[in-house]
Amino acid sequence: MPLLSGKVLFEKANESGFAVGAFNFNNMEFLKAILEAAEEEEAPVFLQTTESALRYAGIEFLAGMVHAVKDEFRVPFALHLDHGRSLDTVLLAIRHGYTSVMIDLSDRPYEENLEITRKVVSLCAPLGISVEAELGRLVGIEDNVESEEELLVDPEQAKEFALRTGVDALAPAIGTAHGAFKFKGEARLDFERLRKVKELTNMPLVLHGASGVYYEYVNEINTFGGEIKDAKGVPDEDVRRAVELGINKVNTDTDLRLAFVATLRRIMSEEKGNIDPRKFFKPAMEEVKEIVKRRIRLYGSSGMASLFL
Ligand code: G3H
Ligand code: 13P
Ligand code: ZN
Repeated sequence: MPLLSGKVLFEKANESGFAVGAFNFNNMEFLKAILEAAEEEEAPVFLQTTESALRYAGIEFLAGMVHAVKDEFRVPFALHLDHGRSLDTVLLAIRHGYTSVMIDLSDRPYEENLEITRKVVSLCAPLGISVEAELGRLVGIEDNVESEEELLVDPEQAKEFALRTGVDALAPAIGTAHGAFKFKGEARLDFERLRKVKELTNMPLVLHGASGVYYEYVNEINTFGGEIKDAKGVPDEDVRRAVELGINKVNTDTDLRLAFVATLRRIMSEEKGNIDPRKFFKPAMEEVKEIVKRRIRLYGSSGMASLFL
């Protein structure tokens, strides 16, 4: 199946009430694991790269790998720019055949976010490239914010922003955070706020910072020399509830990193005489594949590839 515009994935997921998994990759190992997992689950996926992924590997390598293998897979997928921070990065992504972009100016004043996002939509829409934007801000426990409340999305503002920009999808901040340290105590997601945003916009919504930060990986990392003692993620039942309330794309990066690093740490400590990186990377890649399959099932997108035939 050819690379699809994110628009198609967003629309089908919104119509049918499920979420498409969006998984970050920085190298061949993650990309292969994500695509193989999607194929086995018969699920559509977003393959996404951040600006720091582009700095790490180079857009020629990351986009080049996707274009080189796209005809080997039957599931529908989009190549998406995650947290693009400027018009220049969006233009770079367009030149490299991305089919979806996020412009994230959620830390700028509202009007500035709105104006630049509008410009991005006017560039992308005629090319059939979908645009995602973010409203409100995601902060982790390490950010030391006094009032979390004022960083969450304002549902009325979300409605106005969607109408004035024409974006295809909106990522509303409802209390999640990026990385492995999301909450000090219990997880707290503002579901009522999410319900209102969906009711007022009725558009595809995206959940960032959604990783589960599963105990088995955290424990394995801590057992084999790592130190991530207070790691905490979003419980599966909260992700499920968010999807029921209208989330149509769920972003996951940290869970893949944890699965990969936990496996690397264990195997490197077990096989001290080995110097062939493939002996470490292969099982780590398999573990990433397992976690991607688990997440796809959680989002309700298993088997949904058939909707795109
Ligand atoms: O925003 C998403 C990421 O999990 C952070 O990714 O380290 O590639 O910027 P990054
Ligand atoms: P996690 O850090 O929870 O995996 O979130 C990833 C994300 O939102 C990428 O945009
Ligand atoms: Zn994100």
